[in-house]
Formats: sequence, structure tokens, C-alpha cells
Amino acid sequence: MNNKFLIVDFDSTFVQVETLDELAAIALAEHPESERVIEKIRTITAQGMDGKISLAESLDERLKLLSANKKHIEQLVISLADKVSPSFKRNGVFLEQFADSIYIVSSGFKEYILPIVSKFGIKEDHVFANTFTYDEAGNINGLDASNPLCQDQGKVRVVNSLNLEGSVWAVGDGITDYEIRAAGAADIFYAFTENVERTSVTAKADVVIKNFDEFLYMHDFPRAISYPRNRIKILLLENLHPNGIKMLEHEGYTVETLKGSLSEDELCAKIKDVTILGIRSKTTVTKKVLDAAERLISIGCFCIGTNQVDLDYATQKGVCVFNAPFSNTRSVVEMVIGEIIMLMRKVVSKNAQLHQGKWDKSADNCFELRGKKLGIVGYGNIGSQLSVLAEAMGMQVYYYDVMEKLQLGNARKCDTMDELLSSVDIVTLHVDGRKSNAKIIGEHEFKMMKDNVIFINLSRGHVVDIDAMVKVLDSGKILGAAVDVFPVEPKNNQEEFVSALRGYDNVILSPHIGGSTEEAQLNIGEFVARRLTSYVNGGDSTQSVNLPNIQLPELRKAHRLIHLHRNVPGVLAQINQMLASHQANILGQYLKTNEQVGYVISDIDVEYDKDLINQLKKIDGTIKSRVLY
Ligand code: NAI
Repeated sequence: MNNKFLIVDFDSTFVQVETLDELAAIALAEHPESERVIEKIRTITAQGMDGKISLAESLDERLKLLSANKKHIEQLVISLADKVSPSFKRNGVFLEQFADSIYIVSSGFKEYILPIVSKFGIKEDHVFANTFTYDEAGNINGLDASNPLCQDQGKVRVVNSLNLEGSVWAVGDGITDYEIRAAGAADIFYAFTENVERTSVTAKADVVIKNFDEFLYMHDFPRAISYPRNRIKILLLENLHPNGIKMLEHEGYTVETLKGSLSEDELCAKIKDVTILGIRSKTTVTKKVLDAAERLISIGCFCIGTNQVDLDYATQKGVCVFNAPFSNTRSVVEMVIGEIIMLMRKVVSKNAQLHQGKWDKSADNCFELRGKKLGIVGYGNIGSQLSVLAEAMGMQVYYYDVMEKLQLGNARKCDTMDELLSSVDIVTLHVDGRKSNAKIIGEHEFKMMKDNVIFINLSRGHVVDIDAMVKVLDSGKILGAAVDVFPVEPKNNQEEFVSALRGYDNVILSPHIGGSTEEAQLNIGEFVARRLTSYVNGGDSTQSVNLPNIQLPELRKAHRLIHLHRNVPGVLAQINQMLASHQANILGQYLKTNEQVGYVISDIDVEYDKDLINQLKKIDGTIKSRVLY
């Protein structure tokens, strides 16, 4: 900051709020017409900020309405401490280090500004603001009228009086901050929009900055984060859950949302400078799309499946793909339990009869589920969760899985599917969609099941031989069935559902909604948003479907070098050689590879030769390399 001076505004810049509005809310909390008066104060504040009334007028009118005293100021200081703008707060080290070059110039009041900024190392004689006057009882009754800051062009006069020799840069959100530059007292005016964006001000600014990180990044000053979040562009398609969107916006990223999906060409045109893409199942991310994406580092599939993304090519391009593998697990499980009860009590067929006027009050073939044997095929996320709930309801759980799985509660493992099928009263399928699972339930398997079995499939349509199922339904062997997934499903709500399973009174058919609940949508939105932010902000690839999964510790007082490369011999050795030759002290290093790529994370001491970053990018086989702090 040699010969450079920073003039920083306070209200809505250093802190997130307009302080007199805040003071009014405190002072008028008990006032019978507080809302009306506070609203009036806000209107006057806005008029002043937009330059519609003079500053002196705006201050004077607001003070009259305030009815505040010294106690209220103490409360205001406590409340403001939590309202320092996030980008100033996280860059406290910069403020402290360059305090000699930083001035706070505000039309607010020194009584509450000084206690806030002094915590960041700003000196008292670098704080210029108004001061209140009080009556004997300590009530604010006006302001020191001799202070230039209560007059028009006051900030200009104060900055001029400082006689700063060098470049003067003014940072603020209001018209009075622009005036410093307009009068020639500052060389550059940065309109600060982290808290409010006034078009009347940004239109006149030399530079518009979303936050203080952006300012520090532009000048390559020491800063808390390597890359301003607002420069990270996120494109979210297909009407994602608002909570997920909010989480990403809260991180400070620049988020664009679209309701529908985009065609390949539309996406190619839009994705050029996108860092993160969020989609559901209707957007296809092809090789062409990935080639058009020059800055893409991650794709969030806000759903379960990832078939819509060319995963192989995404890996080659170093794009980390996430999904939400178990955010709707509970929804599926609850539906299975509900359907078992409906079928065991024949509610489904009795409902159909009653709608036709047939009263059939009988207990024949109606059962409780307590004590019944539930057979779960596929003991993964859904199967094992179902196991827990079913046991809690008194069922005896049997399961069969092709993999060795942790046996939960009292669940019994079966060595073969036949063993399971012949032992249980209810069969429910929860296998994954791998090709080899096609028709794993066919004629033979239905034959193995007990008479009066209940059969449920909420996994994948192709795992059941539908012709064989129709035969056993016709034979009366099955007491009831529930099917949510089909070998061929309509592409949209307008297309007719065609299936040989239609027309059976004892079969519940549902349109692939096992996981479709509001809760699941919210869980998916939040889960994927969290994975994306952990990866982008910290390099944590846990639960990525295509990159090696590395769970990383939080980054503290270190720089994190992230290096993704083709899995060829010798890259780690080259990275470490490079680290040594640039005097980098390694605090932690993490490495994982899969068949295609290697992922190396090196946490190093903040002092090192910064040329290292460029050199790492040049290592043969490098796909992506970035530095985080
Ligand atoms: P998961 O991958 O956690 O579990 C699948 C389990 O099945 C694994 O333990 C695997 O080893 C086992 N398995 C695979 N083939 C098998 C076979 N032939 N015999 C025995 N075990 C086998 O999957 P998750 O999350 O539990 O989902 C299960 C199924 O539910 C998936 O097919 C998924 O697509 C489907 N699903 C359906 C929804 C709906 O709306 N109806 C919603 C969510 C998931």
C-alpha cells in the first residue's frame, strides 16, 4: 500500500446496515408508533443516500425523530459488532496491517463507529465522523453543527484536509462517497455493493466491487481468500429447491437460475465461463458441453442418478461430479412400510370395491405386520434403513445382498436369494440398476416365494420379468403387490402409462414417486449444495461419483495446493520436487488415485515463492491445478 490511501465509508459499507435506522429500531422499540416512525427514518435515509435531499437535511430530520439516548448507543455498538460486512470481517488482517493507510470517513457518528473499527486496528485519529450532543439526562438532542461531515460536501472537505500524498481510493455505497472522487479529492471511486446496490451510485463509479475481497484481489493485496466468491459463476437449471440455491448464494457466488433444462447447443452457448453447473435428470452433459466449458470445475446432479453426465469425459477434464445418493432414502422406506400395511389389510382392493358400492367387511386374509417375515433383496441405503424401521414395528427381517453388508439390529442374512424368497411373507426389492440385475425376479423366483406373498418393487423396472409377474398374479399366488418402477415409463405426464400390470385390484401402481417428497427435494438441494461448496472452497471431494474421494481437514493458516492429473507415473515426485525447490514447507499432504486420475492436495506454509503456482500447472499430465486459502 505504498503511497496509497483508502477512504472507507461506514454505513452499509464497513457494516451491513444504515446505523441511524438501526439506532431508531433500538430507541423506538417501545414506542407505540415505532413502525411508522422507523419507516419514516428509513425513507429519509434512502433519500439522502440517493442524493434526493441534502445530507444536512437528512441528518437533522432523522435525529428529530430518533428519541435516542446514551444507553441506546451502547446497545447499538453491541448490535453492530455482529453486523460488520463479512468481507471486511474476514480481511481483518489486511486492515490491521495497513491501518496507517486506511481512513474511515462517515456521515454517521463517532460514538458508535470508533468502538467497531478500532477492533480492526483502525486508529482513532483516522476516524472522521459526526458527534452527537446531549441534554443533561443523556438524551441525544442534536449534533455538533461545526463538524463538516454534517454538511454537504463534508466528506470532500475532510479528505482534502488530510493532505494525502499519493493515490487516494474511496470505497463506499452512497452518493457522498462518489462526491469525494467527483471533487478530485480521490483518484478512484469504488462503489461497494455487498450490502446495497444503488444504481444512481454504481452508474457513476470508476469500479463496482461486490465486496472487499474483490478490491483486494484486483490489487493483489494480502487477503483472506484466494479468489473472490462473486467471481465464481454458478448456473442452476431445472428449478432446483430454493434452499439449495440460497445456500450457494449465501456463499457469495454469482448464481443464475433457470426453470427448465437446456438443449446441448443452448448449454454450450451458456457454459463457457460457468464454474459450477447444477442440474437434475433432464439436462444432458455431453462431451461437446464439457469441451465448451472453459472454467467448469464441478457439476452437481441434484438427483440420485448421474447417467445424464458423460462421467468418463468429465473425469478426463477434471470436472468433479456430485449427486445425492441417499437424500430420499427415508421417503422410499416410508412408502414401502405404508404399502405393506395397505396390502396386508387389503385396503387397496376393498377401496376399489367400495368405490363401486360393494361393502365387504371381513377379516379374511387380513394381517398385522407384527411378527411377519420381511425379505429385503439389496441391503444398501434403502434396504438397510427399511430393516431398522420394519424391526421397530415388530417384523422379522431377512436380507440378501451380493456384497457383505453390516447386519443391523436382529436382521438375518440369507446366503442365497432362493433361501430368502422361500422364507419370508413379504419380498421387497432394493437392488441397484446394474445391467446384470435385469429380470433377477422371474418365473423361478416367483415359484420360490410362499403362497399369499406380498411382493414390492420400488427399485428399478428392469429387475422384474413382468410377463412372469402377470402369470403369478393371474394364478392368485400373490396376495398383493406394489410397483413404483417399470421397464418402460412415460417420458412426461402427458404420455399414457402402458403396462400389463394395469387392472389388478390387489396391485398398487405408483408413477415412480417412491423418493418424491418435499423433504427429499429439500435434502437433495442442501446435500448437493454442501458438497459443491466443500469442493470448490476447500477441495474436499468426498462422495464425488467420478474423482478419487478425499476428505480434507479444514484449512487453517495454510495455503492449499490442489493438483489433479492424469494417472501416469512420477507426478507426485515432480510435485514434491517443485515444492522443495520453492521453499514450501508441507504441513499436510493427501493423495488418492483412481484408474484415470490422481488427486494430490498439499497444505503448505503461507510463506513460499509464489512462482510455484505457475510451475505446478506446467507439470506434464496436469489436468487442473488451483490454490486455495
Ligand atoms: P444402494 O446402492 O445403496 O444399494 C443397492 C444394494 O443392492 C447394494 O448393497 C448392492 O450390493 C445390492 N445389490 C445389487 N445387486 C444385487 C443383487 N442382484 N442381489 C442382491 N443385492 C444386490 O442403493 P439404494 O440407494 O439403496 O437404492 C436402491 C434402489 O432404489 C436403486 O435401484 C435406486 O435406483 C432405487 N430408488 C428408487 C426410488 C424411487 O423413487 N422408487 C428412489 C430412490 C432410489
